[in-house]
Amino acid sequence: MCGIVGYAGRRKAAPLLLDGLKKLEYRGYDSSGIAVENAKGEIQAVKAKGRLIKLIELTSGGENLDGTVGIGHTRWATHGEPNDVNSHPHLSEDGRFAVVHNGIIENYLELKSFLTDKGFKFVSQTDTEVIAHLLEYYFDGDVLDCIRKVLNKLSGSYALGILFNETPDVFYAIRKDSPLVVGLGKDENFIASDMPALLKHTRNFILLSDDEIACISGTKVVIYNKNMEVEEKKPFFVDWDPETAEKGGYPHFMLKEIHEQPKAVRDTVMPRIKDDKIVLYDISLSAEYVKSIKKINIVGCGSAYHAGIIGKYYIERVCRIPVETDFASEFRYRSPIADERVLTIIISQSGETADTLAALREAKRLKSRTLAVVNVLGSSIAREADDVLYTHAGPEIAVATTKGYTTQVAALYLIGLYLAKTLDTIPQSEYEEQLKSLKNLSDNITKLLEKPEETQYLASLYYKNKDLFFIGRGMDYASALEGALKLKEISYIHAEAYPAGELKHGTISLIENGSPVIAVAVDKRLFEKTLSNIKEVKTRGAKVIAVASNENRAVENEAEHTLYIPDCHPLLAPVLTAVYLQLFGYYVAAVKGCDIDKPRNLAKSVTVE
Ligand code: F6R
Repeated sequence: MCGIVGYAGRRKAAPLLLDGLKKLEYRGYDSSGIAVENAKGEIQAVKAKGRLIKLIELTSGGENLDGTVGIGHTRWATHGEPNDVNSHPHLSEDGRFAVVHNGIIENYLELKSFLTDKGFKFVSQTDTEVIAHLLEYYFDGDVLDCIRKVLNKLSGSYALGILFNETPDVFYAIRKDSPLVVGLGKDENFIASDMPALLKHTRNFILLSDDEIACISGTKVVIYNKNMEVEEKKPFFVDWDPETAEKGGYPHFMLKEIHEQPKAVRDTVMPRIKDDKIVLYDISLSAEYVKSIKKINIVGCGSAYHAGIIGKYYIERVCRIPVETDFASEFRYRSPIADERVLTIIISQSGETADTLAALREAKRLKSRTLAVVNVLGSSIAREADDVLYTHAGPEIAVATTKGYTTQVAALYLIGLYLAKTLDTIPQSEYEEQLKSLKNLSDNITKLLEKPEETQYLASLYYKNKDLFFIGRGMDYASALEGALKLKEISYIHAEAYPAGELKHGTISLIENGSPVIAVAVDKRLFEKTLSNIKEVKTRGAKVIAVASNENRAVENEAEHTLYIPDCHPLLAPVLTAVYLQLFGYYVAAVKGCDIDKPRNLAKSVTVE
């Protein structure tokens, strides 16, 4: 995944491009580059391996590059190692075109051999370079015609920014299966891979459809559809506060986003509860359709997949409909069984995860009805699903998801409860109790966040450990999975999550004197069983840290330390458990001095399969 930006207007482009790239660095940070074009049509490109700061230093914050039109890129390498040459922008051999690209050109080898036969010399190992050379090859006087011809040759995914030396006031932008927004300013216009990168300048945006070509100057944006007819697009306004894309006094975006969860959950839940009923205003599942559902598939990657497991336990409990949860990367390849009577719920914070998008398409191909739970407005998954339920988490910048995850879980509660009510599988009193707890969820997160000291203390005790185990049963197991993922991805400590009863079938042999085991013991129904599993590991020398509900205080007799979640309906507790485990992972990584917002080898939105 990479981030791209573009600018056309009256101001000097380079400092603005660098500023935009700063906001997109979470999408890729192994190298970066910008290209600007001056009024004479001279294109100047500067690239640097490493963090964006290198490029900023190299260009004196962009001040030593003239030109009011430009494009920029921050890279997360997929083809070719991170180095200056492989960094974008890539220039055509004659230097007349410059290109930045996010995505993958799947047929680049074929195109490369075609161009090599025509005498083109390649300097990089990237797939993107073919685009620059193709532009040169197909140009015969009409730049739009040339871009269209090039697009017709590409297969794969791309968001592109293109400069052409004969049109110094304009740059070109195209997207297909990769995110890109056009931001509309006053006498200036922008592109970026996401909206937060531009919130400082505008909150008015246009979304491009696949393979539309946008010609962007400071004063206008003209969009051509695939038939090269001008397409009128209605801009839309986002009410995200520009502040939400800044750290706001927190040392890391991750901690800020952990603390934004009360608001994120409230914004996701409250507008959908009216007169003590769930109203899913943005989706259209008729009672007739709901009654016809025979199975639900839930698909996602990473944390979104974990949210899906919570969803499975929850929906099966309250709706009595079988639910299968799949890793999106596996879904397509296991010949999934689906038809009109199978509802496929697709979960993705970014709405751009390649595997999840592919799973959505597979479900649609099988005629399954698709319902996406997505955070980013207008993202690919949101656009392609039959229905979208937006989580209103606001922009999530830290690579490790926090508020993205808890709002996904909250959204699944809303969906499950809505289905249960429609199917009449839940007694009214239970429905009311759960609704009440759902409404209180946000306040309960606030309560939990008021006391970070215990979690900080625990982090200081365990940050030197090389391995940690997480155990739990039922929904507590799903929480354990998410807790382990949070810890390992940001602190680089090896962490494994197991169903508590499963450990003794092999993995318990790894437990030795002092091994830390985080036991999630929130579910009252399963407590006695979990407690015996806690005893099993304790007997082998484990040090147990429990995350428990007040109902299960007996855990203190076995655990070294216990963190208690505020009281709430047991089925909704995983949201609260998650917050403790996020804090634990965060503080461990903080004590270790890790690069929390941008962990090594990871990117925020994984647009490659
Ligand atoms: C983990 C994390 C990832 C994402 C996964 C899916 O902290 O952030 O596991 O959950 O890459 O991303 P989305 O939800 O954008 O599809």
